[in-house]
Amino acid sequence: MKQAGPIIFLAPLRGITDCVFRNAHARHFAGLDGAVAPFLSTVEGRRIKPTHLRDLLPENNRLLPVTPQILSKSAGRFLILADGLAQIGCREVNWNLGCPFARIVKKGRGAGLLPFPDKVDAFLEEVVSGLPAGMRISVKTRLGRFTCREIDELVPVFNRYPLAGVIIHPRTAAQMYGGQVDLEAFERTAAQLRHTVVYNGDIFTAGDLIRISRRLPGIDRWMIGRGIIADPFLPARIRGRSFRKERQTERFRAFHDDLLKGYESILSGPGHLLNKMKGLWSYFSMWLADGRKILKRIHRLRRKEDYLEFVDSVFERRLQWMMPDGGLEGSE
Ligand SMILES: Cc1cc2nc3c(=O)[nH]c(=O)nc-3n(C[C@H](O)[C@H](O)[C@H](O)COP(=O)(O)O)c2cc1C
Repeated sequence: MKQAGPIIFLAPLRGITDCVFRNAHARHFAGLDGAVAPFLSTVEGRRIKPTHLRDLLPENNRLLPVTPQILSKSAGRFLILADGLAQIGCREVNWNLGCPFARIVKKGRGAGLLPFPDKVDAFLEEVVSGLPAGMRISVKTRLGRFTCREIDELVPVFNRYPLAGVIIHPRTAAQMYGGQVDLEAFERTAAQLRHTVVYNGDIFTAGDLIRISRRLPGIDRWMIGRGIIADPFLPARIRGRSFRKERQTERFRAFHDDLLKGYESILSGPGHLLNKMKGLWSYFSMWLADGRKILKRIHRLRRKEDYLEFVDSVFERRLQWMMPDGGLEGSE
């Protein structure tokens, strides 16, 4: 559903923003226009396992439109997977050209392709002409593998194809998540692209979005990842919605319990469940008063019962979010 104000997408975070998370977020917070799902990687051979596609099935994505993402350097294998996705009703597929992790990059996938515009060109040529009828491809990229100048060679390549959009995280892969986002390079790139451009990176508060949008006045599409996990209220805050302080813990708790229930039903055993929840709390704790303390305690817990008892006590004491700009929230 298109909402008033800026267009906001949930970024793909592998291991976090699966359909359990996306649905729980939509049920308790709303404020998002869509999401790109964490990457599927193309497997050898032609067989697609149904479990690979479960996260993308329409019945698991009724609350928020989702675009699947594929990580691949092989156009042939990409097309096989895209075909499977088209068969379950997907109309767009996103190509991951930005994953910075060494084991991916070394194999020439994700950001490993960025220094090779010819390979990107050959890939897109084959994929664009071979996509199932009615399906489009968008791209999610960084500025380069080693330098922010690599993108300059890629812009004319992207401009040759009818892409559904280009999402740019303005860092190099070498930066991983360190250093600053390069807004100047983003601006230069966006100005040259003949496609819809989405900005992605380091939006943690509503104030961050305001600051970056002043710097990039032509951009009205935003993709946010870590900021939404750390503060699930963020998309709604950006839209100027406010939440009464005394209701925030209640709402967050309902979200948490929904996540717990969802993961309990798909993960095998309490160990996996606990690990999943610990991973989430490493983000949830970011803005919380006493967040570090809470996280430390949670990491020490070994049994599900102890976890439930501990989070119960945390919720009963009420949570307090401490954003530097107060989250720019009003007081409903
Ligand atoms: C744990 C984790 C997993 C990620 N998984 C993916 C992924 O599957 N596909 C992708 O394109 N980007 C992935 N990213 C990158 C994010 O989508 C996003 O580009 C990055 O976090 C910057 O945006 P942010 O500052 O709003 O978080 C991942 C990032 C993190 C931290």
